[in-house]
Amino acid sequence: MAANANEQTQEALILSFLSESGSDYTSGEALSNKLGLSRTAVWKHVEALRAKGYRIEAVSARGYRLVAVPDRLTALEVGPLLDTHDLGRTIHHHEALPSTNEKAFRLAQDGAEHGEVVVAEQQTAGKGRRGRTWVSPPGLNLYFSAILRPDLPPQRAPELTLVAAVALAESLRDAGVEAAIKWPNDVHIDGLKVAGILTELSAEPERVHFVIVGVGVNLNSQAEHFPEALRATATSLSLALGQPVHRARFAAALWTRLEEWLDLYLDTGFDAVRARWKALSSTLGQDVLVRTDRQELRGRAEDIDPSGALLVRTAEGSLERVLAGDVEQLRPRR
Ligand code: BTN
Repeated sequence: MAANANEQTQEALILSFLSESGSDYTSGEALSNKLGLSRTAVWKHVEALRAKGYRIEAVSARGYRLVAVPDRLTALEVGPLLDTHDLGRTIHHHEALPSTNEKAFRLAQDGAEHGEVVVAEQQTAGKGRRGRTWVSPPGLNLYFSAILRPDLPPQRAPELTLVAAVALAESLRDAGVEAAIKWPNDVHIDGLKVAGILTELSAEPERVHFVIVGVGVNLNSQAEHFPEALRATATSLSLALGQPVHRARFAAALWTRLEEWLDLYLDTGFDAVRARWKALSSTLGQDVLVRTDRQELRGRAEDIDPSGALLVRTAEGSLERVLAGDVEQLRPRR
């Protein structure tokens, strides 16, 4: 494990030296001096990086040059792009997992720290809300779970889902699309779902042990990657933009946003998040059909209350508070 971490650091250093030099060559001697390694050791690290998909040109008497970086979601690719203090500073990257939420939950039970993130290139049993599955084909999208240890009473933990929804919608807007939040935590582009959040909690009555915020974002899925049944309701950022999306860049921007909102929320409370959530919402003001475990409710989605519950005004005039459920917007707003 220690040797592995050391190798990772050496590789990360080589990459950062090479990217600093841009299109110029860095000599093997300069690299070996900077790293305190033999030329042969430098060459071995370069070979290891090549095996991971980095294209590194080597020209005798000139040295090495970084030509292309693979779009993977390891610490090597995401780390240098991150502007966070905790979130994503430790990345547990996996080629495939049943579910990043499950893995993160186990790591947190074993003592993983606030801000550690589990990422998978593929999930074989990705979990959605209300017992559904999250379609997670390899190498195309972003599937991650953040381990958070906020100082909050457990009843406030659901607010973290709205914190994540705001960060997600803003990151998608920064990427150039009109993303909106559909209560409670789906993110849509033009009425089609692009991302979802699954928050899981471990707590005792007075205290949160940890919260797992699991996020799936369809970044590069094309129509054929969605099962038939989802094609009319799902989309991806790439489909909306008409071009491929660089996943590591998106992940770094999203985690940076997420930590900014999280810091603000933990410092000042839920009000700013709630106000931003409302501004980004496509649900409020709409006539909706809400399905909960116990009932179906029709009415006008009027507001979210200070805890994030949806307030629905029924035709009879009563105001109903909905904590969890699925919303169908009867007249989608564009
Ligand atoms: C939803 O139903 O909208 C929530 C989907 C959440 C999916 C993400 S993908 C990463 C994380 N791991 C999981 O198993 N689920 C969440």
